[in-house]
Amino acid sequence: MDADALHARVLAWYDEHARDLPWRRPEASAWSVLVSELMLQQTPVSRVLPVHAVWLERWPTPAALAAEPAGEAVRAWGRLGYPRRALRLHAAATAIVSRHDGEVPDDPEELRALPGVGDYTAAAVAAFAFGRRIAVLDTNVRRVHHRVLRAVEVPPDSLRVHERREAEALLPADAAEAATWSVAVMELGALVCTARTPACERCPVADLCAWRAAGYPAYDGPPRRGQAWEGTDRQCRGRIMALLRDSPGPVHTTRIDSVWPDPAQRERCLAGLVHDGLAVPAGPSAYALP
Ligand code: ADE
Repeated sequence: MDADALHARVLAWYDEHARDLPWRRPEASAWSVLVSELMLQQTPVSRVLPVHAVWLERWPTPAALAAEPAGEAVRAWGRLGYPRRALRLHAAATAIVSRHDGEVPDDPEELRALPGVGDYTAAAVAAFAFGRRIAVLDTNVRRVHHRVLRAVEVPPDSLRVHERREAEALLPADAAEAATWSVAVMELGALVCTARTPACERCPVADLCAWRAAGYPAYDGPPRRGQAWEGTDRQCRGRIMALLRDSPGPVHTTRIDSVWPDPAQRERCLAGLVHDGLAVPAGPSAYALP
């Protein structure tokens, strides 16, 4: 693979087609980038945008968030889903204040030590907020790499060491360019080289793509797990959380009973939320945000 041609084409494409997202602007703070990456872990850009804007307006620094109860973070998380991320972001803000003088660290290891920050998020913040030369591998990037370089669909397994090495070998030598390359590949995966309907006619590297040359071989591994929703514990937890979020004070259990018909599932989910620290008992028969 001609890496220079790949870089030049993808970077030129990004220059012209990238979405203008607040956390990508030159003036975006490292905190804005960190907040965006936690929100984007399991939620699409369109739903993250309004919540991210309100969040940054209200808590422009880690110290501002750390000064409020964790329940306020959960409330402001709104309907982004997986609200444990809000608790983790609050805990990360607290750790940034206590360990790093209120400044988001630029070192990937120190980032990795923060609550809610895994390998992906640590690399994304180091690269996008601080221009570090480090491979950033989310599902979009992995899909593009697998197709272009290996002529296969990305398997559903977690990242392997050789995949990281391959991505590192492909990083441009210049650190700032490497960071732009990573976000550019991510954008290509989000807008053109999508999972279900890749738009190869709009792809700047279609003629270099091994997957295209091989005739778009389909995924042939074990089936992927679907994300069921209707009737699941996730849906039930979401209903209870929406009720707690939208109430200024404690919520009586009779109101919680009204949002989910199956009592056993409802009790299990409520107990799970209390266990996760997302809800706290407030008296004998009421619950509230932490
Ligand atoms: N830009 C930077 N990080 C991103 C992400 N995780 N998703 C979409 N756009 C991004």
